[in-house]
Amino acid sequence: MHHAADEITSVEDAARKAITDNLFSPRFYTTDYAAMDALSVEPVRAEWDAMMAEYEGDNNHDHFQRDAGFADEARALAATMSPELKQEFLDFLVSSLTSEFSGCVLYNEIKRNVTNPDIKKLMEYMARDESRHAGFINSSLKDYGLGIDLGNLKRSKHYTYFKPKYIFYATYLSEKIGYARYIRIFRQLEKYPEKRFHPIFRWFQRWCNDEFRHGESFALIMRAHPHLLRGHNRLWIRFFLLAVYATMYVRDHTRPDLKQAMGLAPTEYDFDVFRICNEITKQVFPVLLDLDHPAFAAGLARLAACVGRANEGKAQGGLAGALKRGFWHVAGAAVFVRMYFIPALSNSLPATTRLQPRW
Ligand SMILES: [Fe+2]
Ligand SMILES: [Fe+2]
Repeated sequence: MHHAADEITSVEDAARKAITDNLFSPRFYTTDYAAMDALSVEPVRAEWDAMMAEYEGDNNHDHFQRDAGFADEARALAATMSPELKQEFLDFLVSSLTSEFSGCVLYNEIKRNVTNPDIKKLMEYMARDESRHAGFINSSLKDYGLGIDLGNLKRSKHYTYFKPKYIFYATYLSEKIGYARYIRIFRQLEKYPEKRFHPIFRWFQRWCNDEFRHGESFALIMRAHPHLLRGHNRLWIRFFLLAVYATMYVRDHTRPDLKQAMGLAPTEYDFDVFRICNEITKQVFPVLLDLDHPAFAAGLARLAACVGRANEGKAQGGLAGALKRGFWHVAGAAVFVRMYFIPALSNSLPATTRLQPRW
């Protein structure tokens, strides 16, 4: 699946990969700060205050530091990785760093642009966490001489404007699916430590508890504004669910070596993550995707195949390559639209929102 043009062999390649946007890469966002400032969390005040006390307690303040043996362990294990696995792992580090830093930049910008004390404090805590996460990943890239200049990334990346409600749907989901992805990997490597090909995975459990709590924050904001969860907004929620799940599936299937090295089949891993995520989103979403509908798994497989063919066209180049790429993009979009119309499941919301990370 790898094409020379996509390989990360220099610090410039790593920076270009982080800056370049495509349909499946993490994006940077701006939003309507006045609307963010006008949010009220009064309807969920008790749960909100309990959550803010957890942020204040900062139980991960000492977590994102490398232990003495980290770099040596990384170096020794790197020697055992195949070149394909190493490339996929670097791609994983760069895209994870971009996505952590995207949260950091967005939360910081919201913090700077609002005076509402609840929102300002929340954004400050979440930016604190994401900045630690991004810095921790960057240390591992620096071990390979591939550290990313985050100031430059912040200045050079294209920013996509999202209305607050789209930020809530998308960011809630990306925090929760981030939790589910990390905890599934952590559990796997807890069971098979011999498959842990990099020390960074030892950090994932406490790390993803931060992401879980970030997701809780957006769940409470949405529950405090129930019109975001009704009427035509249900269609937006279905759209974001499908977009986030499909993006993850396609990405994981274009770098299968990473999961296989952990002893995980990509499809099985993705469905485990979807199931965890579906279970969690019952706290806030009135609709869920029907993961067991036969057209769902079949659609994802077709979508990944379309993207694979489009990438072949891109690698081939020239007019024929461009036509091939265009054709398979359109075919992929048609599969996505058909999947959107698979009947969704209705969910009635629980009386209290908060969940604990118990997976
Ligand atoms: Fe994070
Ligand atoms: Fe997060």
